Amino acid sequence: MTDKLIIFDTTLRDGEQSPGASMTRDEKLRIARQLERLKVDVIEAGFAASSNGDFEAVRAIANAVRESTVCSLARANDRDISRAAEALRGAARARIHTFIATSALHMEMKLRMSPEQVLEQARLSVKFARNLVDDVEFSPEDGYRSDVDYLCRVLEAVIKEGATTINVPDTVGYAVPELYGEFIRTLRERVPNSDKAIWSVHCHNDLGMAVANSLAGVKIGGARQVECTINGLGERAGNCSLEEIVMAVKTRKDYFGLEMNIDPLHIVAASKMVSQTTGFVVQPNKAVVGANAFAHASGIHQDGMLKARETYEIMRAEDVGWSASKMVLGKLSGRNAFKQRLQELGIQMESEAEVNAAFSSFKDLADRKSEIFDEDILALVSGDNVTLDKDQFGFVSMSQRSETGERPEAVVVFTIDGKEVKAQSDGNGPVDASLKAIETHVKSGAEMVLYSVNAISGSTESQGEVTVRLQNNGRVVNGVGADPDIIVASVKAYLSALSKLHSKADRVAAQG
Ligand code: KIV
Ligand code: ZN
Repeated sequence: MTDKLIIFDTTLRDGEQSPGASMTRDEKLRIARQLERLKVDVIEAGFAASSNGDFEAVRAIANAVRESTVCSLARANDRDISRAAEALRGAARARIHTFIATSALHMEMKLRMSPEQVLEQARLSVKFARNLVDDVEFSPEDGYRSDVDYLCRVLEAVIKEGATTINVPDTVGYAVPELYGEFIRTLRERVPNSDKAIWSVHCHNDLGMAVANSLAGVKIGGARQVECTINGLGERAGNCSLEEIVMAVKTRKDYFGLEMNIDPLHIVAASKMVSQTTGFVVQPNKAVVGANAFAHASGIHQDGMLKARETYEIMRAEDVGWSASKMVLGKLSGRNAFKQRLQELGIQMESEAEVNAAFSSFKDLADRKSEIFDEDILALVSGDNVTLDKDQFGFVSMSQRSETGERPEAVVVFTIDGKEVKAQSDGNGPVDASLKAIETHVKSGAEMVLYSVNAISGSTESQGEVTVRLQNNGRVVNGVGADPDIIVASVKAYLSALSKLHSKADRVAAQG
């Protein structure tokens, strides 16, 4: 057993499966670069066979990332595995992660396969994958609810075929820490060739125990890889949160006794990037990355902190990347300074046209806001705020009128496929009037399932960041918009969500 804990980040795959969290190739690439800066060992970049978009995202990440292993998920069949290998061809280190369900419920109701058929498919798939890459991970989906004797047979067979990592998912978040830890230990004790593979834990957070279960898998079970996501992003209640697992193992090194490659200084930036890209806002009291995680409000605590910070603080805010936000640029800053700051923030634009579009949005913002912070720049380039030619709907201008006792009215000018339209409506409030104005033209029929506003850098001078989540015909998309005027931010977010709804996506679900 080694004393190194491998951090496997699946924000871009399992995290992205969260309804509305889907990201573009460029957004994924930007997050992958931040994960590399964070020194995660493995980046699960996507599920290459699920859509052309995901294939391109995995390929772009495999070509760009040099330090971390890049992984693609693949169902246990030759087509998915070949597609994964193809997308990973440019990687410095490539891993194929193949999976098939092994619980009686999943095999019978979902796969309609017998246990022996599943075992054979798992075995053949790992064998096939090992002919394409040296690093193959196998996951028995719904592993925690699988029959232990049967699971031991499957895992022994796939290790014999060359699986280098065995990951045991608690797919539905049913486990409790002690039992999950013992489950992993039992598997490791009973699978005869268990020492030939690294054991990994993958826990969902349906009962709020994903981090605790993962830690038990490590401590009691002897797992040496944890699968996790930034901000705990993921389907339903999410996955094990990277920042929590990393800081638990680091802060309680006395107990866990494990080393990690991670550089925690980049945690907060990664959290902000994921939150701004997906529109999934981090709750203020979230451990490590919540806005209040290091705020000491009560008089007794503040007094103690002033005398000795260790009285109430077990980690230092600056060690995970919380630092006073710097004023980086202003209205007189030129294109080169802007470009350099993008680079320092790890943002690489694909083309000069994109840099130009971002710089023009920056200039526009700097005209209205004297201090531009890193958060503003991130919001500027986070997908939705730079309207690109490929976006079907784009913001042009708007005006609205609201007065106490009067029904608000709004006029919005926007583009549909490059053609300008002007729309007008009244509504319950100015935001409602503006979005209704757009709908008078678009008639999308979409249902709004979330609308939220967040101040990017805290004060009333900050930009408002709005997330709009729309649902239509079973598709759920998020649009994010930022602007010092929250009504404009709302319109931008809405138009961005509409563009996403109208773009064709053909994702295949990894689970279920
Ligand atoms: O939760 C799960 O079972 C998964 C597998 C595909 C690894 O995400
Ligand atoms: Zn999962």
